[in-house]
Amino acid sequence: MSALLGKVAFITGAGSGIGRGSAERLAREGADICILDLDEEGAEMTANLVTQLGRRAHVVKANVASAANMQRAAQECVDTLGSLDIAVANAGIARAAPVLEMVVKDWQDQLDVNLTGVFLTVQVAAKQMVNSGKPGRIICISSLAAENTGMAMWGYSATKAGVRIMVRGWAQELGPYGITVNAIGPGVIETPLAQGLAGEEGGIIRSSLEKRTPVGRVGRPADIAGLVNFMAGPDGEFMSGAYVLMDGGLRDASAGWEAGDTENIMAERMRIMASGEERRQKLQSLLDIRD
Ligand SMILES: NC(=O)c1ccc[n+]([C@@H]2O[C@H](COP(=O)([O-])OP(=O)(O)OC[C@H]3O[C@@H](n4cnc5c(N)ncnc54)[C@H](O)[C@@H]3O)[C@@H](O)[C@H]2O)c1
Repeated sequence: MSALLGKVAFITGAGSGIGRGSAERLAREGADICILDLDEEGAEMTANLVTQLGRRAHVVKANVASAANMQRAAQECVDTLGSLDIAVANAGIARAAPVLEMVVKDWQDQLDVNLTGVFLTVQVAAKQMVNSGKPGRIICISSLAAENTGMAMWGYSATKAGVRIMVRGWAQELGPYGITVNAIGPGVIETPLAQGLAGEEGGIIRSSLEKRTPVGRVGRPADIAGLVNFMAGPDGEFMSGAYVLMDGGLRDASAGWEAGDTENIMAERMRIMASGEERRQKLQSLLDIRD
């Protein structure tokens, strides 16, 4: 597989989870990878994976929320690897807290990383792409939380909903330069960030999640990396301004079956609905009167 041979991918938060999975997948497809993370140790581990696949890797320790860091990072990517053709704005944090307890510093950090960080990544990457005169691909990691939220999650959800809408504007602005911009909405993916949501193998959180998720399992970084690869590769050429949810079907399952005991809830719902059958038939007969 070498659809991305000769391309350079600039991936933020590539020292862990979805970012690392994406680095590995794009390297398998032939891309060289610029691995940006605050966590140098994690970034070096990803770099080892990339070089083992025979591709070049360059690690940049940088904070996505800093404009100066991001300008330096994008320049370093081009200086060391030769170009910047694909950008994955993936770095993100979650600061969950109820509204009565949210600390302003946590709220601000979440905005800085998840919104300003994505904006700066797209800005510095797009400038390099435009300067090169070559087409480019930009992929931003949003979340299922952009559509669904709940207790303590509203702040994170606000940032992810922001990413989801920003890509649509960027797709309009950057299209004339041959740059596509898309967003991905992962469901619950097994990474350090989502430990509390994904639970542990065999534990009650994990088994409840597996029961509720139509495909019957928790997500893996490789699932999302496959979609990143689609958006970055030749098959994604006609996709721009899109938001693609990849959650194993969890969005609609969580809306309807919050208790997670699908079979019992379904049985109870059928029983209650059957008890209303007489009323339903009466209403139906009224509905059938057309004049
Ligand atoms: N795991 C999930 O279930 C899930 C679901 C939906 C969306 N997401 C999103 O996917 C993205 C990746 O998350 P993950 O689950 O792989 O998390 P993760 O914690 O495993 O990895 C995130 C990486 O980003 C780095 N990072 C954090 N802040 C940074 C900063 N300011 N500058 C540079 N690097 C920084 C961290 O050091 C870490 O290596 C995030 O945007 C997250 O919101 C995750």
